[in-house]
Amino acid sequence: MHISVFGLGYVGAVTAGCLAARGHHVRGVDVSSAKVEDLNRGKPPIIEPGLEERIATGLQTGRLNATTAADEAVKTTKVSLVCVGTPSTVSGSLDLTFVRQVTQQITEAVRAKKESHALVFRSTMLPGSTRSMVDEYARDLVDTGQLAVYYYPEFLREGSAVGDFDTPSLSVTGSIDGHPPSGNGELWFDPDTSAVSWETAEMLKYACNAFHATKVAFANEIGRLGKGLNVDATEVMRLLCRDTRLNVSPYYLRPGNPFGGSCLPKDVRALVHRARQAGASVPLLESLLPSNERHLQSLLEMIGASGHRELVILGLSFKSKTDDLRESAMVEVAQHCLGRGYGVRIFDPQLNLAALVGANKRLIDTRMPHLANLLHADLGQALGSRGLIVAAQQVVPAEELAKWLTSDHAILDVNGWTALRQLPCSYHGFCW
Ligand SMILES: NC(=O)c1ccc[n+]([C@@H]2O[C@H](COP(=O)([O-])OP(=O)(O)OC[C@H]3O[C@@H](n4cnc5c(N)ncnc54)[C@H](O)[C@@H]3O)[C@@H](O)[C@H]2O)c1
Repeated sequence: MHISVFGLGYVGAVTAGCLAARGHHVRGVDVSSAKVEDLNRGKPPIIEPGLEERIATGLQTGRLNATTAADEAVKTTKVSLVCVGTPSTVSGSLDLTFVRQVTQQITEAVRAKKESHALVFRSTMLPGSTRSMVDEYARDLVDTGQLAVYYYPEFLREGSAVGDFDTPSLSVTGSIDGHPPSGNGELWFDPDTSAVSWETAEMLKYACNAFHATKVAFANEIGRLGKGLNVDATEVMRLLCRDTRLNVSPYYLRPGNPFGGSCLPKDVRALVHRARQAGASVPLLESLLPSNERHLQSLLEMIGASGHRELVILGLSFKSKTDDLRESAMVEVAQHCLGRGYGVRIFDPQLNLAALVGANKRLIDTRMPHLANLLHADLGQALGSRGLIVAAQQVVPAEELAKWLTSDHAILDVNGWTALRQLPCSYHGFCW
């Protein structure tokens, strides 16, 4: 495959060297003539273990060279990878100036050569950027099929970039229709790549980096707090990572319900309070309860904006298969809506009021003494003939719901319950 790589910085130089070592014919392109000359002399434009050898192989076999001539590089290749920088502006916004420049150069050269070509963005760009580049510079080429455009996020880490390129931790390709790349020009994509829309692939890159940043900040805060409390936080974090069921796993990583229950809110509150006493500043941990509260507010805003005045809550407890109501978001939803004059009906087969004891009983007696009037044992009665169904938990099979729903119902899915999309009433996802 003949490939041009735009931008010979950390990502571009590694990409160019590794693709050439894999047997592709690679033209590296950069505005910096110093970087171009370095690469053509066998000197990597950046320091990266293993890269010098890859570049040397590429040069010796005649499969790698670099140029400042963008149009000539496009003319002699079938695929152009965009690896130019996307720095922050002074205000913190993303500066796409370099991406714009190369997109314009590449699309003009493709128009002139009158052959099919693939344009692959690897620079990190916010959701909507690929679409705006296409709209601005390439709509005609894409509509006629001359240009295929992909967003293929790069996940390599400096310092181990060559190994990461060879075996990427994740490979996801964004395309115009969410379909996998096809045709000759796209043969170099990782065979295991997941195909998604441009925007999903763009967002994924930011979600990954935000997650990594959160992990680092979290470990550092546990470290600072541990030091303040005379606890070895390195040992704590090492043990935390041994739990691959709840901690280092997909668990707790699905958008949906606010957290609640008898442990998370209470324990985060206590930890933050202790940190204040110990003089340890833990802004990330301090942000957790406000973030959770904000999430609940968003749900209440969506309910308010729905226009419905009758509310059906599916699942009142803080998670399914339990009758624990402590700090359950749905108790807050019920209270809030009752206070604003909504008709509220609740269906939760796990909840047996007569059997509640202890803290749960106290909560009902003091905060929701009227709960018995809202709780329906019969699904049909709970759903009634109209209303907004706030689906917090999967308390009943979707087929059962289908028997009772009318076009006067609407579903607000808080739990990512995909079967609800097929039901005969309007469907609204809470945060998807
Ligand atoms: N560095 C990383 O570890 C890493 C990892 C994944 C993704 N990314 C993303 O990849 C992109 C590139 O990052 P980087 O660290 O390689 O940047 P970099 O600053 O090291 O390199 C960018 C290169 O683009 C060149 N360039 C600018 N305008 C150009 C133009 N019009 N034509 C040709 N070349 C041009 C610059 O001269 C420079 O050599 C960024 O969006 C970054 O966020 C970086």
